[in-house]
Amino acid sequence: MSDETTGKTLWHGRFASGPADALMRFNASLSFDQRLWPDDIAGSRAHVRGLAAVGLITDAERDAVLAALDVTAMELAAGTFQFVQSDEDIHTAVERRVTEIAGPAGAKLHTARSRNDQVATDLRLWARRELVAVAEGVLALQDVLVDRAAADTSIYLPGYTHLQRAQPVLLAHHLLAHGWALARDVDRLLATVERLDVSPLGAGALAGTSLPIDPEFTAAQLGFSRPFDNSLDAVSDRDYVAEALFDIALLGIHLSRIGEEWVLWTSEEFGFAKLDDGYSTGSSMLPQKKNADIAELARGKAGRLIGNLVALLTVLKGLPLAYNKDLQEDKEPLFDSVEHVSLALTALTGMIATATFVPERMAAAADSETTAATDLAEWLVRAGTPFREAHAIVGALVRDHLASGTSLRELAAGHERLGPDAAALVRPGVGVQQRSSRGAAGPAVIERQLTDFRNRLAVDRDRLVHRSA
Ligand code: ARG
Repeated sequence: MSDETTGKTLWHGRFASGPADALMRFNASLSFDQRLWPDDIAGSRAHVRGLAAVGLITDAERDAVLAALDVTAMELAAGTFQFVQSDEDIHTAVERRVTEIAGPAGAKLHTARSRNDQVATDLRLWARRELVAVAEGVLALQDVLVDRAAADTSIYLPGYTHLQRAQPVLLAHHLLAHGWALARDVDRLLATVERLDVSPLGAGALAGTSLPIDPEFTAAQLGFSRPFDNSLDAVSDRDYVAEALFDIALLGIHLSRIGEEWVLWTSEEFGFAKLDDGYSTGSSMLPQKKNADIAELARGKAGRLIGNLVALLTVLKGLPLAYNKDLQEDKEPLFDSVEHVSLALTALTGMIATATFVPERMAAAADSETTAATDLAEWLVRAGTPFREAHAIVGALVRDHLASGTSLRELAAGHERLGPDAAALVRPGVGVQQRSSRGAAGPAVIERQLTDFRNRLAVDRDRLVHRSA
């Protein structure tokens, strides 16, 4: 191949021969770090302005490089950018192209910069934007949960412990339970964004530089809150990638729990909800099937999200300061987790928005007489019976009911310590009314929870707008 299509490596001066094919193929990260190009362009713009601001290049040279960066960005955006074989990564490719266009001025772009501080800067810019986008996806799901919750606060279903029917709960309450977990995910993502908001640009390869650069200037140019404090740390810190992967893994675990419930709810056995045709799949062989693939995948994706976190932590463990090529392995897990959790969020949001609940099935399951047992015990407590004794009395009644087949209501009505008033608690739909304490599952307090949740959403939405501005 001619030199034009193969290009020169960034380090060709020191080397007598060119790189082996096997090295290039193993070493290159272009296939996956290409997506950093907008951030690489942004970082280079800031850097070249910084060089001019301290007099390391002239204003004319700065403008020539900025113009070349504009052309490069246009080509990359349009998909007309011609990569060559020596473009090991996006940083190499952009610098090569800028130098082709701007000539000697372009050759000054990398003054007082290393790919080590460059890639650290790019990835922080990327993560800052993308984590906010993930949080926006979480908010969209929370919107659907609260809308569906508020749409009908009369629907109730069994609340479970150990997947055994325990006490009736409002569907709104159940949906919001997931909503609150997701609110913590948003909070975590935003906290990670706050912490990663530090510019590593100016750290050089590892030790800073003898040239009079101004990292505060470039940090401000890029909208970072502040520049790094320690150059060795700046080029080798990937804590924020690990944090992001954890945030996403835990978010994925929350989605997997929602997914699992919908798999159950849409089964014939439960029958609590029906999926819209657009959000369910059929079977290639079994004509009657309607499957909850989205819910299953939301459950299954958690596996890779956890795997990506573990992969990165394993890469980081034991790495000596400062940059090591191992760190190139930070990107694919991060890109993968962001991509897949975003897909899961969008699909799950659509699935829940379009599904139909089946209140009769939910109520029938929730009104099974034994779910009123705690209410009977609490009735006795109100009548002055110590709870432990009340528990034993109702427990014996339930045993009697299960053994004899006589309805619990009848047994309660005829019991010397209970009677007709207590027995009324066993009637369908009565149980869920009883849950009235703060944050409880009943209708008396659901409006307050809906209001609190909506207020929380509004606050979080504000934080996101502020962050992406
Ligand atoms: N592609 C590299 C990465 O992602 C860029 C930094 C390369 N630095 C170096 N000293 N070889 O980490």
